[in-house]
Amino acid sequence: QGNRDLAGKRVLVTAAGTREPIDPVRYIGNHSSGKMGYALAEAAAARGAEVILVSGPSSLACPAGITVTKVETAAQMREAVLAEFDTVDVVIKAAAVADYRPETAADQKIKKTGNTLTLSMIKNPDILRELGERKKHQLLIGFAAETQELLSHAQEKLIKKNLDMIVANDVTLPGAGFNTDTNIVRVIHKNGQIEELPQLTKRQVAEILIDKICVMLTNYT
Ligand code: PMT
Repeated sequence: QGNRDLAGKRVLVTAAGTREPIDPVRYIGNHSSGKMGYALAEAAAARGAEVILVSGPSSLACPAGITVTKVETAAQMREAVLAEFDTVDVVIKAAAVADYRPETAADQKIKKTGNTLTLSMIKNPDILRELGERKKHQLLIGFAAETQELLSHAQEKLIKKNLDMIVANDVTLPGAGFNTDTNIVRVIHKNGQIEELPQLTKRQVAEILIDKICVMLTNYT
């Protein structure tokens, strides 16, 4: 029997990427596999939390004992997350949410006609930012996937989205980011403290993040 220090806590985790439809057969997506988010969900459940996993499309098996809500688009992810938000203690947003979606999804498969095809895109809601505006007792943990200026971009997101902690990954590093079994992250706290972790499996990263969340929960109450 391991440590059950999240017993009695409800933890909402988002994982994988969203898909934004272009037409009935095509979408705009990204390379997120769900591995980071599923590792977090499993680690939190192993520590006794009641876990709600809101996941975009992923080939990973639904973890045992965890309630999984599958979604496709950012709008569906927003609905699923908001439906649970008031009743959870912690939110960890590892999902890669599309910032823009095609303004309209065509009813029928788009035919190959001209040499170019222009899609008009419209901004998606920023789910995490909305949670940051609504939050009361909840701890909010975000991720930042960056290809440049890792720390400054992540710090900006921490502040703009009113987070308690942000986990920054430079997704250009081998062994970090999308679809790898490992990650290399820097953890930035609300007070500005920054910790640099070495390359670790996503499960190890998840365990370390859960440790930090437990400390924050203890200091909160
Ligand atoms: O799934 P894997 O293959 O294991 O890959 C893991 C990962 C690289 C996807 C993960 O480690 C990661 O970095 N997740 C966040 C990806 C992302 O979308 O980052 P962002 O910097 O664009 O967004 C910042 C934060 O705001 C994220 O917590 C994101 O969930 C959230 N967000 C973003 C846009 C939006 N419209 N709504 C949001 O809630």
